[in-house]
Amino acid sequence: MSWLNGLARPDILALKPYEHATWEPIYERMHANELPWRALGDDTLAGLNRYPEPFPRVLAERLAALYGVPVERVLVGRGSDEHIDLLTRAFCRAGQDAVLICPPTFGMYSVAARIQGADLVTVPLDAGRGFALDERAVLERCDARVKLVFLCSPNNPTGNLLDEDAVLRLAEALTGRALLVVDEAYLEFAEKPSLARHIDRFPHIAVLRTLSKAHGLAGARCGTLIAHPDVIALLSKVIQPYAITQLTIEAVLRLLEPAQLAVSERRVATIIAERARLAAGLAELPGVIRVWPSAANFLLVELHEPDRMLERVRDAGILIRDVRRPGLERAVRISVGTPEQNDRVIGALR
Ligand SMILES: Cc1ncc(COP(=O)(O)O)c(C=O)c1O
Repeated sequence: MSWLNGLARPDILALKPYEHATWEPIYERMHANELPWRALGDDTLAGLNRYPEPFPRVLAERLAALYGVPVERVLVGRGSDEHIDLLTRAFCRAGQDAVLICPPTFGMYSVAARIQGADLVTVPLDAGRGFALDERAVLERCDARVKLVFLCSPNNPTGNLLDEDAVLRLAEALTGRALLVVDEAYLEFAEKPSLARHIDRFPHIAVLRTLSKAHGLAGARCGTLIAHPDVIALLSKVIQPYAITQLTIEAVLRLLEPAQLAVSERRVATIIAERARLAAGLAELPGVIRVWPSAANFLLVELHEPDRMLERVRDAGILIRDVRRPGLERAVRISVGTPEQNDRVIGALR
């Protein structure tokens, strides 16, 4: 009996997945109803007339190496957004189970829950302690219906890292009760190790990483779920066949070579330095109430007159994000840009 019994949906645990055409590249393919010729101008390595490898092995190996984890713990998806959706669908029965989130946080966790018909349990982060995790409240609210707990660290839109000891204490307490999903989309900007190294001890921790932020590949739509092989096997039954396009496979393999990784590292360092400069520049402005500390590539900024300021920045040809909501009544989120862009934002808000 799998340790996922009682956590994941029983019907998904029992599901017989779709059988895609076998992947045996040494043979000529007359088994998948493809066209034998490439489209005119198709200069991909494999040819877009062919379905891509269903679970692209070399890509998974490259991402496993990037994140320093065994390939058996990796599922490649179309961005972390897809993994959030897959987890919610595989773990939550509509009308019965629930997802726990800690707002203010990334919006896709609640959207995925609503689409699936799962209930939403919300335990706000503690703004008084820099948007820290309220461990005790999470545990109190984590009843038998809660199958997934989503934490985001560094958190979007607040920018803070969650305390690792607090997350691990929560993991300990949630053993056998729920899957603890830690979204580390912005971890590279925090210069801290991933919680994925604790999956040996806590197989119910799942970690989300993405190429969309520090690696500058948001348009490639490529995210990595790092989890126990049983979780990977379960979600592999739910993910669309051929989810990762041939274009993405080839682009990502080409763009994750050592030379590009070295450039990404330098750019992350630049963003971290610019984050500090932008924060200091904003903090001096009379229209700014507060700039929250950030471990990500954006800043949460509270403004005296957010409507007027949003308009001013837009007039300067730049979009920043209105993140006003209960508890953040006057807040905007500014992605750290190039030094020139950051100066323009400061100038527009002055
Ligand atoms: C916390 C967080 N997780 C996930 C995502 C989505 O990542 P992806 O582009 O890999 O789908 C975002 C995007 O803004 C995010 O802020």
